[in-house]
Order: sequence, then structure tokens, then C-alpha cells
Amino acid sequence: MNDELQKKVAQAIRNPKNIGEMPDADSIGTVGNSECGEMLRMWVKYKERDGEKIIDKASFQSFGCETAIAVASLATELIKGKTADQAMELKPEELSGELGPLPPMKIHCAELVQGALRSALSPEGEAPAQVETPAEQAKLNPTLQDSLNEGQTQSGSGLKINFLDESN
Ligand code: FES
Repeated sequence: MNDELQKKVAQAIRNPKNIGEMPDADSIGTVGNSECGEMLRMWVKYKERDGEKIIDKASFQSFGCETAIAVASLATELIKGKTADQAMELKPEELSGELGPLPPMKIHCAELVQGALRSALSPEGEAPAQVETPAEQAKLNPTLQDSLNEGQTQSGSGLKINFLDESN
């Protein structure tokens, strides 16, 4: 990674925006990259504006590298006010725009963010479980750390992780 990019990533992760789960989210998307083992989950909440459904806010949790965290932080800001279709069209280089061009070995970090975003925005995105208490919420909607600890990342907990197709 070049110095300039390193500096921008460091700056972005020093004060990451929109980190953490969102209990009142409308949709969740989780992706993993089987090559580097990184995982990212995004939450999206919509609102209505002039009769149109737009993204009110988004948040993320990551086991990703610093670049993925920096891109996810920027992306959750970038998509606010967009429709799901507009946000779905954003390319990895647009999501990571403020960081400048990513070196080839880091492009997949932005693709991980794009994958999680698309998963959350797609009509098939996970709907958050309807629960009464925070304890139930934690059980039904575990953090990535919980899921990994319990070995439930592939199935069995209602958590759906999409692994990105490395051939793309
Ligand atoms: Fe794999 Fe960044 S190194 S997501």
C-alpha cells in the first residue's frame, strides 16, 4: 500500500463512521471472502421521502482488514439518501472513492463492502428477527464474533453469509 493510501486509511479508521449493529434495521447483509477470511455485515434502515423509499442510515461490523473498514465507513455515509437501486449500482471504486485508487491486492476489500451492501439492499436480504428483548435480539442476531465463536457462520443460526465469488 502506498503512503498516501495508508494515511487515508489510517485517518478513516481512526474515527470510523456508523460502526456497530443497528437494532431497528430493515435489512441485513453479510458476506465473507473465503480467500482472506475477512467478513463484513451491514445493516440498512430506510425512510420515506417524497413518496420514495430512500436509505436513512447504514452501519457495519467487520472482521475485515483496515481497508475494508475504511471503505465500509465511507460507504455507509455515501449511500445515505439514495434509493436501494442507486446504492446497488455503486462500484467498488466509487465506494472507496475518497481513499483514491486502491492497489490491485486491495480491490477485493472494496468488493467485500460492495457485496455486503448489495446483500443488505437486495430484496432477498435478511430481515432482522422480530424479538422482544435485547437478550433475544443478541441470540437471534449474533455479532460476527458470536457467530464465529459458536461456529455458526455457515448455517443454523438464521445468519446468512454470502461468500464472494473470487472468479469475478
Ligand atoms: Fe481481504 Fe481486505 S485483505 S478484505
